[in-house]
Amino acid sequence: MWLCSRHFTEYVVDRVRATLKRYGMVKLGDSVLVCVSGGKDSITLLDVLWCLRDEFSLDIKVLHVDLGIGEYSVKCREVVEKVTEKYGIRPVILDVKRVLGMDVGAIARRVRRSTCSVCGLIKRYLINYVADVLNVSAVATGHTLDDLTMYILKLFITQDLTQLSRLRPYLEGVPEVGLRARIKPLCEVSEFETSTYVKLLSLPHVVARCPYINPDSMDFKVKEFLNSLEDKSPGLKLSLLRNYLKKLAPILMQYLTESGAEVNRCRVCSQATSSEVCSFCRLVSRLGLKPEEVLRKIRKEVLSS
Ligand code: AMP
Ligand code: FES
Ligand code: ZN
Repeated sequence: MWLCSRHFTEYVVDRVRATLKRYGMVKLGDSVLVCVSGGKDSITLLDVLWCLRDEFSLDIKVLHVDLGIGEYSVKCREVVEKVTEKYGIRPVILDVKRVLGMDVGAIARRVRRSTCSVCGLIKRYLINYVADVLNVSAVATGHTLDDLTMYILKLFITQDLTQLSRLRPYLEGVPEVGLRARIKPLCEVSEFETSTYVKLLSLPHVVARCPYINPDSMDFKVKEFLNSLEDKSPGLKLSLLRNYLKKLAPILMQYLTESGAEVNRCRVCSQATSSEVCSFCRLVSRLGLKPEEVLRKIRKEVLSS
């Protein structure tokens, strides 16, 4: 398709509207916690949901986690503050350094783990925790078609069937353990489209990548491979996603139910976990901090935002 600037941005909004309906992601009047990193994908997500908020009667809240990764995190935070100011939203900004006393790089060195895995653990936990404190209906992330198809292929290669079965544009919440629904409204929008969207609308966004990203990682290799296939057969990623959801995902769901992967509440913080004490509480204890105190601090910051 060849579209002018106005029709292109309308096309992206139409696609997200159709995605919200197709996967039953939101109900009228839902409150949605939009997780914004400051990159092109989550900035597009926020802008499009903001355009659709009246149509779906959405109450939009924004969360940004400041990871303390030098100049990169400073820029991300500035972008999120600038964009949310434009819409008149007061974002919840959680500063990892303030909450845990160290940035993610220092935490990773202290516990001798890779920065990306510690960062992922902290982000996932904080997102769930804030969603619980704010009592939202759903948590929205900016995962794109490129991300979802990359994960489908990567998890198939590594045969991580449990993770693969959870890979869905819409994941129902589990109220018994405080988990909110997870939605990925950009699951049928490509990264090329998000980067074009932010450029055409002159939306502030961070272009730089996190310095800890490893360009030789499997994620990048799989994305490159899928891009080369998409070049030869346009539409391949979308059909991979839709066929996966129609054919393989239901079988995997059945597998997950039968293999009985249980979700409980953490003995310390009461958040969802598959073990007795969640990995966040274990990480916090390894840093010599008391999880209860850290959570009290986070709760206070969220409620005073
Ligand atoms: P990533 O795993 O970095 O590709 O990010 C996937 C999605 O997670 C983004 O589109 C955001 O919705 C969310 N996200 C990532 N980093 C942050 C952050 N620092 N603060 C809030 N949300 C984030
Ligand atoms: Fe988490 Fe780079 S964004 S380590
Ligand atoms: Zn816990």
